[in-house]
Amino acid sequence: MSGQRGAVELENVTKRFGATVAVDSVSLLVQPGEFLSLLGPSGCGKTTTLRMLAGFEQPDSGFIRISGEYVQGVPPFKRDVNTVFQHYALFPHMTVSANVAYGLRQRGVAKAEIATRVAEALDMVQMSKLADRKPRQMSGGQQQRVAVARALVNRPSVLLLDEPLGALDRKLREEMQIELKLLQSRLGITFVFVTHDQEEAMSMSDRIAVMLDGHIEQLGDPETVYEHPASAFVAGFIGRNNFWRGVATEHGARADDGTVFVASRPEEDVPNGETALAAVRPECINLSADRPSLDINMTKGVVAGVSHFGDVLQYVINSGGRDILVLTPRTTADRFISGDKVYCSWSTDDVYQFSDRQAAIVLHDGTDGSPISDPTSDRKKEKAI
Ligand SMILES: Nc1ncnc2c1ncn2[C@@H]1O[C@H](COP(=O)(O)OP(=O)(O)OP(=O)(O)O)[C@@H](O)[C@H]1O
Ligand SMILES: [Mg+2]
Repeated sequence: MSGQRGAVELENVTKRFGATVAVDSVSLLVQPGEFLSLLGPSGCGKTTTLRMLAGFEQPDSGFIRISGEYVQGVPPFKRDVNTVFQHYALFPHMTVSANVAYGLRQRGVAKAEIATRVAEALDMVQMSKLADRKPRQMSGGQQQRVAVARALVNRPSVLLLDEPLGALDRKLREEMQIELKLLQSRLGITFVFVTHDQEEAMSMSDRIAVMLDGHIEQLGDPETVYEHPASAFVAGFIGRNNFWRGVATEHGARADDGTVFVASRPEEDVPNGETALAAVRPECINLSADRPSLDINMTKGVVAGVSHFGDVLQYVINSGGRDILVLTPRTTADRFISGDKVYCSWSTDDVYQFSDRQAAIVLHDGTDGSPISDPTSDRKKEKAI
């Protein structure tokens, strides 16, 4: 597969900027027609990886193949790729058509051919009707569609997109996610899509490469990275998680607050007695007024807050000085209010257990097992990481 048109292959690719290792021996094979996202926190090396694929940066070591060809020394415009950036950088004084045609004109493509290809590209992004407008006469989403058309007009087999929806407001962003995904599956073009938004990556991608500190922490389809995070970092970055710090036991972990975790499938095998992290997702925690029958996989606390989010209720439970985030369907019969004493319990299948390797990244201060930050805020969580 790797030699086919549209395939992208990185082999031990490393890029340094002075003392910073921006990309650290990354190997990755993107299949032709695949939608692959590079997902990770700020500074983890997403843009640098993309710029090396585009040809704007050269790797210090390692190899890149695009559509079966080694591209070392091949300038950007001769590669079988095109890039769409977050800031679409359209020429303000040119019409939509002229913007899309610009690259072809520069290369001396015949006029008739330019007209055909511009019309085709604008049709793909449903912008034919606005062909004569100037950028300032269009919404952000429309301008971004033009930027995509400008990349597609070269008929690349790989499109590189660096946070292309980052500048759009939430609603428009969600609309464009659906549109881009449809366009990609219709055209069968390989997409390498950079984002730091895990929901965006989850909803659009065939596979996600979760990056941290220049390397790929986990590569897998959205379901796998969610259900089977390979590390505590992935468990905290994809979706949300409650973390407890403690000591590994034969069957799981004993948290510092005395909570006993029994896991049916520890994600990482941690030797008994060593420091371990246990994690349980908010939607996997059951709340009850009565004490559960078993003393394992349970803890008690007091409801500190309840928020309504359409079809789910979000509880913050204060338990021994730390907060536990719990999400329950709105239809759940048992409802609680602030001040209620509750028991939190969960199943052995829902316990993740990790070694302490990344505690400093995942936990607030690495000591008290607090969640990453205010559990009600995804944004803050990203910053804290
Ligand atoms: N031209 C450069 N000169 C020096 N350092 C750089 C340069 N470009 C990137 N870096 C560094 O390399 C690392 C990776 O940067 P990169 O832009 O690839 O991150 P990113 O994952 O795209 O982050 P963001 O989500 O903030 O866009 C960072 O530490 C960054 O400061
Ligand atoms: Mg970037």
